[in-house]
Amino acid sequence: MSTILAPGRVKQNVSSGVLVKIAHITDLHVQAAPRLGEMTGKRLLGTANLYVLGRRTKFSLSAQEAAIASVVAAEPDVVVFTGDLTAQALDAEFSLARTLLEPILSRFPTVMIPGNHDTYVREKTPGDRMRELFGKWMGPEMPALHVHGDAAFICIETCRCHPLSSGWTPEEQLAEAATKLQNIQDKFTFLCLHYPLLGRHGEPYGPSTRALANADAVREWVNTTPGINAIVHGHEHHGFKTNISGPNGPVTILNPGATGYAHLPEQNRTSHLCFYTVEDGKMTGLERLLFDGTSFSPEPGGAFSTGR
Ligand SMILES: [Fe+2]
Repeated sequence: MSTILAPGRVKQNVSSGVLVKIAHITDLHVQAAPRLGEMTGKRLLGTANLYVLGRRTKFSLSAQEAAIASVVAAEPDVVVFTGDLTAQALDAEFSLARTLLEPILSRFPTVMIPGNHDTYVREKTPGDRMRELFGKWMGPEMPALHVHGDAAFICIETCRCHPLSSGWTPEEQLAEAATKLQNIQDKFTFLCLHYPLLGRHGEPYGPSTRALANADAVREWVNTTPGINAIVHGHEHHGFKTNISGPNGPVTILNPGATGYAHLPEQNRTSHLCFYTVEDGKMTGLERLLFDGTSFSPEPGGAFSTGR
């Protein structure tokens, strides 16, 4: 695949129609300290994980701000965010994330889904708390279909409030999503999930404590449902690219890795984000950028070549 072309909004290509440039960010994990009254249920464990076991320092506001600046500078046509906006679904975290993302949300069409960290507390529908501030970019319910130029995004729920980090897709959403897909067969369509369907070597993703519990059903649905051209997800903080069988051949699966990660080279961690170019019903560009502590630049050797 070629690398991304010059920045710009939806562009006319003389020979082949419209080109759409998509930025993919995920797992920002914006953090704020919980108030005493918010220390309930899963947040007790989450707070211990963040503040006692040190997970808090794995994410950095400066990396998050630099990632957002990098997306803005690239002038994508659409931005897709695949979940884990917050660390513990706290009001203060959603509010901080809203401020942080304003440069993107005020400029570019954006598609957002929640992650398991955004659904820490029981809700009528997973993601309702996030919808209070981000509903405009999430849609009122799942499955949600977003169409931007020649690219479409079909979003299905994979998250639920669970004592561990096990996800779930309500299977009635699969039939509903398949119906929606029938109406957009002329678009290049991304299936947007938070949880991986497969691990980095194409194996079923695990361990089960932090995987999509009914991933078998979703994989079978992908294997047999026409109209899914690529899959984007997050959850696993070291990114990878793999593929899964679809009814018309392999479907690429893309996870940039956590965009909120701090620059910690000694731990082999840093923030990543991806850009995809779609043209004439095909993905013609794939670029993965990583944070060097100051700014973002293309991954040496090409997208996903570093293996982390
Ligand atoms: Fe995450």
